[in-house]
Amino acid sequence: MIFMKFQFADRMSKVPRSFVRETLKITEDPEIISFAGGLPSPLSFPVEEIAESTSYLLKKEGEEALQYSTTEGYTPLREYLSNRYSKKGVKVDADHILITNGSQQCLDLVGKVFLNQEDKVLVERPTYLAAIQAFRMYEAQLRSIPLQEDGIDIQALSDALSQDKFKLFYSIPSFQNPTGITYSLEKRKMVAEILEDQPTVFVEDNPYGEIRFRGEDLPPIKSYLADSILFGTFSKIISPGMRMGWMVAPLEVMDKLVVAKQASDLHSNYFTQRVIYQHLTDHNMDHHLQKIRKMYKKQRDLMIQMIEDHFPPGVRYTQPEGGMFLWVTLPEGLSALELFDIALKEKVAFVPGEAFYTENPEKNTLRLNFSNSNEERIEEGMKRLGNAINKMMDI
Ligand SMILES: Cc1ncc(COP(=O)(O)O)c(C=O)c1O
Repeated sequence: MIFMKFQFADRMSKVPRSFVRETLKITEDPEIISFAGGLPSPLSFPVEEIAESTSYLLKKEGEEALQYSTTEGYTPLREYLSNRYSKKGVKVDADHILITNGSQQCLDLVGKVFLNQEDKVLVERPTYLAAIQAFRMYEAQLRSIPLQEDGIDIQALSDALSQDKFKLFYSIPSFQNPTGITYSLEKRKMVAEILEDQPTVFVEDNPYGEIRFRGEDLPPIKSYLADSILFGTFSKIISPGMRMGWMVAPLEVMDKLVVAKQASDLHSNYFTQRVIYQHLTDHNMDHHLQKIRKMYKKQRDLMIQMIEDHFPPGVRYTQPEGGMFLWVTLPEGLSALELFDIALKEKVAFVPGEAFYTENPEKNTLRLNFSNSNEERIEEGMKRLGNAINKMMDI
């Protein structure tokens, strides 16, 4: 009898492999200068300090630190986060914080506890690729609301909410991935006001908020909207490989999240939670952040300078005040996918914008990462990219 051995769940055919992960493979060639990935600079990793904290922890409390632990996470680490929020004027109780495997797990857990098949979710246009993947895994229908220079298009958001029922609105208000756009204070307040009396849950992803190198710090939208959910992560400020993040949620939601997380992995890596806490106790996070901000500001400024010097007129770009990405819009009618092939021949890579749209992609857009390349590579890579664009436009 002939039969199919592996009969996968229907949902697997709805979620393609990530284009970014696939392009990362191509760009492993060391000759290619890649602005494609979303990696922090390796120079930002506190290697020596983590080595010291790990060794101290193992000697002091090794047996305890290697044991199973609670689903919610290591209490002193949750208290540290609660204190850090409170220093920034945001009131978050430690028992509203769940420690997770990076903020990517927050996306998965939110999907798991809220989404039924065909539920509707609002996202930004464009949005974080792996959020599209995570929500599609739960067979949700995604609808995107355009981003403007100062954040979400408020009118389009209000219209969508008045036309249909949405379970969630997923947003990245600070130094968004992929565009680098940040919501103004006014828009933060307006979003909170609009969602206040809606059944839609606001889900705020904030991996880049601490990496502001220009302008004034802005509060998370959660500070105006208590019933919302907020994600955080150590990935961009300590290390992404340690896979450590957190989610802030109302207690009623926490109860469900804890059950969902137990079913997934019992709890996040307890040893890593302890190492991170030890590290945070031994070292001043703000000094470390200043170093990262200074480095990324230089890299971002240079990338913009190179766009001005080497890209043809008619190319538009965002000017992020923090984070790791900027967003380029080529003149109307040009295709960033076509540019990708030409650029690879010039030995430079980026992510074509198409990957970040849920519908009707704007094909002339692309994302550039400035955190993972030093100044020398930014200078050379941007010259190559300028050449590729000129070749495509026959200049
Ligand atoms: C907007 C956004 N959310 C979530 C993540 C996932 O980060 P992590 O799971 O490493 O915290 C990223 C990573 O690039 C991101 O850009």
